[in-house]
Parts: sequence; structure tokens; C-alpha cells
Amino acid sequence: MDTETQGKPALLGGRPTLQEPLPSPHNVGEEEVAATARVLRGGPLSGFVGVAGDKFYGGAEVRRFEARFAQYFGVKHAVSFNSGTTALHGTIAALGIGPCDEVIVPPYTMAASAVCVVMNGAVPVFADIDPRTFCLDPKSVREKITKYTKAILVVHLFGQSADMDAIMAIAKEHNLKVIEDNAQSPAAKYKGRYAGTIGDVGMFSFNVNKVAQCGEGGVLVTNDDNYALRAQLLRNHGESVVDDLPGYDAGPIFGSNYRMTELEAAVAYEQLEKLERFNAHKVGLCEYLTAQLSGIPGITTPHIPEGNTHVYFNHALLIDESKLGLSRDLLCKAMAAEGFPLGKGYVKPVYHLRMFQERRAFNQTHFPFEYDGYGGAPDYRKGSLPVVERLHFKELVATQLCQYPRTKETIDLFVVALKKVLAHRDALSAAQ
Ligand SMILES: Cc1ncc(COP(=O)(O)O)c(C=O)c1O
Repeated sequence: MDTETQGKPALLGGRPTLQEPLPSPHNVGEEEVAATARVLRGGPLSGFVGVAGDKFYGGAEVRRFEARFAQYFGVKHAVSFNSGTTALHGTIAALGIGPCDEVIVPPYTMAASAVCVVMNGAVPVFADIDPRTFCLDPKSVREKITKYTKAILVVHLFGQSADMDAIMAIAKEHNLKVIEDNAQSPAAKYKGRYAGTIGDVGMFSFNVNKVAQCGEGGVLVTNDDNYALRAQLLRNHGESVVDDLPGYDAGPIFGSNYRMTELEAAVAYEQLEKLERFNAHKVGLCEYLTAQLSGIPGITTPHIPEGNTHVYFNHALLIDESKLGLSRDLLCKAMAAEGFPLGKGYVKPVYHLRMFQERRAFNQTHFPFEYDGYGGAPDYRKGSLPVVERLHFKELVATQLCQYPRTKETIDLFVVALKKVLAHRDALSAAQ
């Protein structure tokens, strides 16, 4: 790769550090090719049928993947879905949460973590985040509990676990369920236990951007037989099946088609076998990046609380503009010009989205946010959660630079670009 490490920043007319864009990450190998060929030659491409009986639970590849997943993470049930989002829908449905119920969620996450609550006719209530881990702040969670609260949905953001001891203690005290959105932190550990397996129901994603992926896919995990069955009913036309399940007494349910194909399951199985290796690669690069950046005034590198391991879906930094001598916007602009786009924050706080601002999810009604029979008053005002707003709009910068199969050389170039930008901070600011 042709690089320019000296001289003026690209934003001031110099040569960009990176002369061509980094290749897109691709982690599919011969094992996945062989697995898909096996399915394509042997068929069928999906093993599900939406009636009670053996095929209600999916085909051979789906069941093999689910069994391996359950064994890997040490849970009783792993139920595959066709995306992490539909698996999240399953977590809420499994617990029987619906209209007039509230679920406390973090605002710094992919919208699906809150929208899955609305999909079930329930109300997401946002609590603020911890300024160092970016996961739910237990103190804020406590403040958001009302008589309608039924569950806390934690998101293990960017690759490490939320403070699960504190969350589980609050849940116990108030008789609430705990759901773990673990889309971003597969195989991260909290005090020796896998994130995603500590609460009542957990969820994982296998979408193309995740460390282990099959294009699109998700998994719900639980140790509870009834929750697992309700998830399976949601996944596969439950309303048509439930009458034929003798003794079913886990409450009303209807389903959809959220079924994983045999091809996806075959790929997901192989990727799961490589998860540890993929994570180790990413952790190694992220720790190397952290070491290169530590000591630069105005940059705070990732904080990992005692007892957590971090698998770095994102490597997130906090910027103190006055100490850095450069605004966050200008830093990101200058790094993009060098060939290294940086995220200004992550995604905007979810309650800023139009559906929450207008309280409209279904046509012209305000259901489920306001209607006769529900007396709650969730607060979606912009500015209402100061920590997430400060981090997102002022301080946080995120990169996925360390994705497999990138190398140390890529990180070195990133650091060269950053140092070049910082060496010219005054000229860059003056040129604005
Ligand atoms: C925190 C979080 N939750 C949920 C999802 C949804 O997963 P999927 O894209 O597999 O539907 C994602 C995916 O980006 C995510 O990052």
C-alpha cells in the first residue's frame, strides 16, 4: 500500500496517509464454502414447516447449529432466528410482555433494541448510560421504574458487558425480568460468565457486520423451557401450531416467519467455531491501538471494569476537545481525508428518532405510547438524558478499524495519520 507518512495533512493539501481505501473485511473461508456446498447438494434449503411435529423445529443444519450454540455458551436452549432483530422480538414475546407494560432500555444502541418492545405493543422507557462503559447506568435504571415496568433490557455495547450484578439486583428487588441484547459482544465475559447468558433471555446477532456472521441471523438463548417454546412459536406461525401442542399453557401467542435457512445455519456453525480466533485477533489489534494512543492528552481509551473481558465490536475513544486542541468534528474530518473515517459518536440517542418524538408507531394513533388503559408517561424529550447526549454529540469517536483480517500495519498507519493531524492542529483549526 502506497503511503505518505510525513508532511501536511490531506485536509491542508498534503497526500493522504492511505492512498487507497482499506479492503472490506471478509471472514468467510473454505469451511463455510464446504458447508454451503453440502447443503446445496443435499438440500433442502429450509427444513421448517409451520405445523406441530418434528419439522416445526427446523432442519438438520438449524438444529445442529442450535445444539452447538447452546453447548458453547452453556445454556439449555438456543433458538435461531433469521436476524438479531427478530430474535429480539422473540425475547420480549417469550416473556409475555405486551400492551401496558414498560421495558427499561438504553438509548445508546441500535434502534432495534427499543423497537422490539414496540413490536410487542409495549413501551420502551429510556435510562441513561454509564459514561465509561456506555452501557445502562443502574442508578438511572432505578429512577425509571414505574408500576408498569416489567423488564430491563440491557445492551452489552461495543464488546463488553453492562454491570450485570447491579442490574440483576434491581430486577430481583422489583420482580422484573432481565433481557440481554448481546448482538455486539459474543463471548465477552462478565465475572467469568458469558454476556448474554446471565439474565432471563439473551440474544445474539449473526449479521454481516458482526464478528461471527452468516449474512443475516440471530439466536435467542434461555434456560427456561417455556420461554424457549414461546420463542419457537413466535418464529414459526405459533397461532396455527399451539392448539396441537398438548398441555401448552404459556399464554396467548401468535407467530411469524422468522426462520433461519439451512444455508445460513451451516455458515453460522462454521463461524461459531472460529469465534474465539476472530475475537482474539480483534482484541489483539484493539489493545495494540489502545497502547499507541494512551498518553495523548485529550484522548481517553476504552475503560474495562474489573471482571469484564472486552471483544471490541467497536473501539471507542472519548475526546476532550480543549485538551486535544482540536474539535471532534475537525478531527474526524481530517482523519477521513487521511483515509480513516471515524464515527462522530455512534448512533443518535434512540429517543431522538421520529417515532419517539412524535409518539407514532402505527399510523395516526399514539399506541402504544398513549392510549386509554395505559397511564404511563415515558419521557422522550431531547436533552432528558445528559450523559448519552454529551457522549454522542460532543465526546465519543468510534472505529471498526480492527476488524478481521486487518493487521498491525493498518493500525500503525492510523496512528501515523492521527499524529500528523495533531501535529498540525493549529493550522487545521485556523483553516476552518
Ligand atoms: C445492539 C444491537 N442490537 C440489535 C441488533 C440487530 O441485529 P440484526 O442486525 O442481526 O437484526 C444489532 C445489529 O446491528 C445491534 O448492534
